[in-house]
Amino acid sequence: MARNFFTMMRSSAPAATAAPAASEQRSERAAPSPPSPPPANMKEAAAAGVGVHLDPNLEAVRHDFTEEIEMALQLREVSAFYGSFQAIDKMTMPIPQNRVTALIGPSGCGKSTLLRCFNRMNDLIPGARIEGEIMFEGRNLIDPNVDAVEVRRRIGMVFQKPNPFPKSIYENVAFGARINGYSGDMDRLVEDSLRRAALWDEVKDELDKSGLALSGGQQQRLCIARAIAVQPEIILMDEPASALDPVATLKIEDLMRELAEHYTIVVVTHNMQQAGRVSDYTAFLLAGEERVGRLVEFGPTQEIFTNPLDQRTEDYITGRYG
Ligand SMILES: Nc1ncnc2c1ncn2[C@@H]1O[C@H](COP(=O)(O)OP(=O)(O)OP(=O)(O)O)[C@@H](O)[C@H]1O
Ligand SMILES: [Mg+2]
Repeated sequence: MARNFFTMMRSSAPAATAAPAASEQRSERAAPSPPSPPPANMKEAAAAGVGVHLDPNLEAVRHDFTEEIEMALQLREVSAFYGSFQAIDKMTMPIPQNRVTALIGPSGCGKSTLLRCFNRMNDLIPGARIEGEIMFEGRNLIDPNVDAVEVRRRIGMVFQKPNPFPKSIYENVAFGARINGYSGDMDRLVEDSLRRAALWDEVKDELDKSGLALSGGQQQRLCIARAIAVQPEIILMDEPASALDPVATLKIEDLMRELAEHYTIVVVTHNMQQAGRVSDYTAFLLAGEERVGRLVEFGPTQEIFTNPLDQRTEDYITGRYG
């Protein structure tokens, strides 16, 4: 897939302060850094128009990408409405392939709405409407001629509250694949999916047990296994760990990092530490007085967290917004 207008000059701006902890784990996948010129602050770089894209029409600040990377999705001026109410306005950004992108922002700014645009889940809400363009492998997936069921197979979703079917662990994983007409070795697919979801070792001797009999964290990993079993390219997660205890949360975070080896992950989170730990890229959304959500800033998580270009991003990350 062609790269796009977000792939621009390499940034010459190393982070001014310590990076989020997870960046060490990510280092093996990070692009090798060239010998850097003398450190330049991102804000100075922005003022000089270097390495940062400031789009006056869209009022969103985007950091330059520092790695050469393919895009799984490319959004252009995506707006979403519920009846006459506009929930999000003209969001333009990429979703980098095989990376974790976090959507952050205060309650009501449109994170879940945006996530649901990515796999046409908003189609299922009466009165909901999307405008703009979400390019996915050369096609605009918002186009009504694009099959929403196919989009949802290729772009899976995991919800805040684990929602296994009242069926066995095995059937939970096999179900979607079977509906999609999978004709291969089902036992193998179930095992592989459970392994990828880091659940196999805990359940391999009781695959006939009800999915509902698992702990909350296990149920969430089962839902991730179920999403994986239909062989998606992108997995959307809406606050996947917010109903879980700290230990189960860390397991889900580790899993997200592992899954990014094979899939593109987009995760909504209210937890700033979590966004810092798991994501490679971050989009900060904010709704104004009229409650319309807009993209304020998009960029590598390390830049967003250590060197935000917009004061509102800094205020949110440092806990000064409600
Ligand atoms: N089904 C719906 N019908 C009408 N309005 C909706 C619907 N779903 C969401 N909204 C409105 O759209 C806006 C964005 O909601 P959304 O759920 O996307 O926000 P969010 O950022 O995910 O919030 P939270 O962090 O609380 O989950 C809000 O003003 C909300 O009230
Ligand atoms: Mg939400």
